[in-house]
Amino acid sequence: MSNHALSGEKVLKHRLSSRLFHWALIISFLPAAATGVIIWLKFGGEDFVNLAMKIHIVGAAILTLSCILYTLFSFDRVVAFLRVAFKFGKDDIEWMQVCGGYPQKMFLGKEVPVPPMDKMNSGQKMLGLLVLFGTILLIFTGWMLYMFIPFIPKEISLYAHWIHWGLGLLLGASILAHIFLGIYNWDDFKAMLGNGTMPIEVANHHNPLWVFEKIERVDGSDKKATDKGNVSTSV
Ligand code: HEM
Repeated sequence: MSNHALSGEKVLKHRLSSRLFHWALIISFLPAAATGVIIWLKFGGEDFVNLAMKIHIVGAAILTLSCILYTLFSFDRVVAFLRVAFKFGKDDIEWMQVCGGYPQKMFLGKEVPVPPMDKMNSGQKMLGLLVLFGTILLIFTGWMLYMFIPFIPKEISLYAHWIHWGLGLLLGASILAHIFLGIYNWDDFKAMLGNGTMPIEVANHHNPLWVFEKIERVDGSDKKATDKGNVSTSV
């Protein structure tokens, strides 16, 4: 779709299944992360830590189930995400050198030139991959520690413990930065947590390669556009 036909239109950035999955990540990961810190620091006495453990396990169960359901029922989205996320090139290196222009905009009120991005920018691709592979390991080691400790060698359970703890901290810290940027980019926030759409001018500003190459007008409407389905809707 060319840029001159764009003004005043809406583009569907995140489909319903992706938005529901993202909501599931919010209601499962955030309580699991907060209670993980309470369990780790043994904060607030035995009863409080026991309650935190119960919430931690419920959060982990919702997280595990939603990852399985999204993979089974939206496998095309997972593949599309991987296709975009694993495409790294010169533009990504340049994007990272200026940190996407965010610090300059936030702290100095200055706009610096930023290389054109696809549906996800380089930071989002890295976060996405970290969340994907990190969460798989987190889930795996978590259930191992919860259910199989009596059946596995002590050394393995020790490794599982360190991986679970380290990854939890790394993912938790990354998600804090992600939440801050998610709220800062308010139109992205409304699209991901709301009805999935955003003004096409905003999409064109953040994701010009996606808008130019990978969206098309929805049949029968001159007011809405969506991606062609061959590439990417974020997780
Ligand atoms: C209140 C909490 C959160 C907010 C406000 C938030 C916000 C957002 C927004 C606005 C996007 C879309 C970005 C775009 O369209 O370009 C997004 C995408 C994403 N979110 Fe979140 N998010 C939250 C929690 C989480 C959690 C807990 C996880 C995972 C554990 C997560 C993982 C992701 C991933 C992997 C993506 C796709 C990659 C990306 O666009 O960064 N989010 N989030």
